[in-house]
Amino acid sequence: QAIVVAIDGPSGSGKSSVSRMVAQRLGLAFLDTGAMYRAATWWCLEQGVPLTDTEAVAAVVRELPLAVGVDPAGPTVHVGGTDVGEAIRTTAISSAVSAVATNLEVRAELGRLQREAIAAERVPQSFSHGRGIVAEGRDITTVIAPDADVRILLTASEEARLARRAKEVHGSADAEAVQATRDQVLRRDKDDSTVSTFHVAADGVVTVDSSDLDLEQTVQAVLDVVAQ
Ligand code: CDP
Repeated sequence: QAIVVAIDGPSGSGKSSVSRMVAQRLGLAFLDTGAMYRAATWWCLEQGVPLTDTEAVAAVVRELPLAVGVDPAGPTVHVGGTDVGEAIRTTAISSAVSAVATNLEVRAELGRLQREAIAAERVPQSFSHGRGIVAEGRDITTVIAPDADVRILLTASEEARLARRAKEVHGSADAEAVQATRDQVLRRDKDDSTVSTFHVAADGVVTVDSSDLDLEQTVQAVLDVVAQ
């Protein structure tokens, strides 16, 4: 019997690292849907498409030659054979990604790919990394896999989220680093909120608040929910 675990949360909630570690511990595949939106954004910029041109962006994303590897020990993202694993994490992509992710045609197209990737891990013949998958993003518990066996919203206070993101991007959580992170993170959250609800748990979704938990404790809290 395959298991599907859906985890949503805002930026800095720790959902990517936590979801990946949970997948590793449970021997499940791991799908980072944010990486798919980032890869689509990278591709649009590479193709020179103005992100404000919603039609052109949708057209280019429909032809996106995307390949995602779902091994939690080393998830990969390739676009047209190019490994974009690092290129999609730059601040340029972080600043641009919401413009692409709020395009409803883009969401329909990437949503289709995400449902396919999750469905593949439900079929014993096509299991790639054990019996099931952990999929994380902004709308997995609500739109992409509302029928998942376990649905979790990973939250954290704004203070905790900004401190974590500052450490990731600037290597420090001092006042200056937090300030530098603040505008971008809060703006992205606000833009993303126009298309996904990831600040409040939907019906049947369990909230895990990681504000006062370290990585290992958060992983444990999520594993506890899965075990219930
Ligand atoms: O960097 P962070 O962990 O905050 O974000 P991410 O998970 O890498 O996702 C990057 C961006 O992709 C988000 O800011 C959203 O604009 C978009 N996204 C989305 O719209 N829906 C998802 N299911 C996942 C990501």
